[in-house]
Amino acid sequence: MQQPPHRYAGLGRVDAPGLSVADASARLLRFAYVERRLMRLQASRVVTLPQRDIKALLARFQYEDALHAEGWRQRALELRTNKSKLESVPDAALAALFDTAEHLPGTYPFLTALTNVLQPELRRAYAAYIATANELADYGSVRLARQTLQEEEDHSRLLASALSELDSSPADRDEARMWEGRLRALLAAAGGIDGARPRYEPPELEPLPPYRLQHTLARDGSLPRVWDFVAPPLEQAPERLDYMLALRLSEVNVAEGLAIVLCETGDMPWSFTLDISRHLWDEMRHSLFGEAAIEATYGERSAIPMRDYEGVFAMEAPPLEQYAVLGLEVEGKNMRYPPGKRQEWEFARDMAKHALAATFQDFDWADEVLHVQIARRQLDVWFPGGLKQIGEFSKRGSAHRTEVKHRQAPTAIPHPTPLDGEA
Ligand SMILES: [Fe+2]
Ligand SMILES: [Fe+2]
Repeated sequence: MQQPPHRYAGLGRVDAPGLSVADASARLLRFAYVERRLMRLQASRVVTLPQRDIKALLARFQYEDALHAEGWRQRALELRTNKSKLESVPDAALAALFDTAEHLPGTYPFLTALTNVLQPELRRAYAAYIATANELADYGSVRLARQTLQEEEDHSRLLASALSELDSSPADRDEARMWEGRLRALLAAAGGIDGARPRYEPPELEPLPPYRLQHTLARDGSLPRVWDFVAPPLEQAPERLDYMLALRLSEVNVAEGLAIVLCETGDMPWSFTLDISRHLWDEMRHSLFGEAAIEATYGERSAIPMRDYEGVFAMEAPPLEQYAVLGLEVEGKNMRYPPGKRQEWEFARDMAKHALAATFQDFDWADEVLHVQIARRQLDVWFPGGLKQIGEFSKRGSAHRTEVKHRQAPTAIPHPTPLDGEA
């Protein structure tokens, strides 16, 4: 049917029978499940992979994939899908694929599998949906598939770049090939991500135990590290600015703690998972705020160290404890003025007169207001007895954090010479 492009509101495939509501819903539930598992898989590697740039990339992707899952869930509900189906596994073969992928070892085999197997298969499934559905009938799904595909193409490009920068040994490459073959066989057994391709016999693999996230600080050499910082007074503006940027830089520790919370609370409702996924990415952004401001000021990101003690606390404390301490004690107290988040912003603007740091602190403050609201909402449900009863528990957690902090003496941050020459 040849029409000028603006006919039918610019939508395509209006003459194709396309997919039925039942078929569309079945595919959408698979998309929601796969995006959710990708969120979890990538969040786990924010903790376990040492490469800072890859951690940051995966922190973003895990959240964008959580948003994709949320989009598919909402759209599935519009297609006469029973709500209970959102919480069940749509296909045991897909579960087997991700249960296995969680065991991918190291950085190289993991990144290879994500970049060369899981990502292309996901994009293929979205492209197939767009090419199959009737865009007029199933407008909501096709629109979402187009947007999601675009974002996934961006992910693919960035993953390929990260992979190309990674050194690999012949043993790494052998291991990566072995895992690629394994995952391809598991995908074939599921009929692909969308289940629309022929299903093959599942491969015979040795059963693996459920994946357990290693609670160990994984770091590369990109940034110097100390245990904790000495805090200079506000009046020493240049030193105080360094300290503030060092605090931002160190928020990677908080992001990793939240990744543990995300991965180890599989039985919490989806709204909780989505909130934590966002919070995780926000904290990684805050760490990147520090990195970007340090690099812009001093010419290299390694000019100022990050601190470790918060990361050690995050590895030690059970998820509920660290989340209560973060949301109620640390972030909650940051709402008080002075000092708090508002003072940090005012300091950057008026005393340090650092325009970039002021922008970052301004948005950091906005994020933190949101985090406190999220934490109060979620902890009220999560903690037995709710917010009314949580005081003692979060105080004990806070004391634990202080005990970790005091295990080693703090270090004064040496003030580097800024690029503009003004010390
Ligand atoms: Fe933060
Ligand atoms: Fe926060």
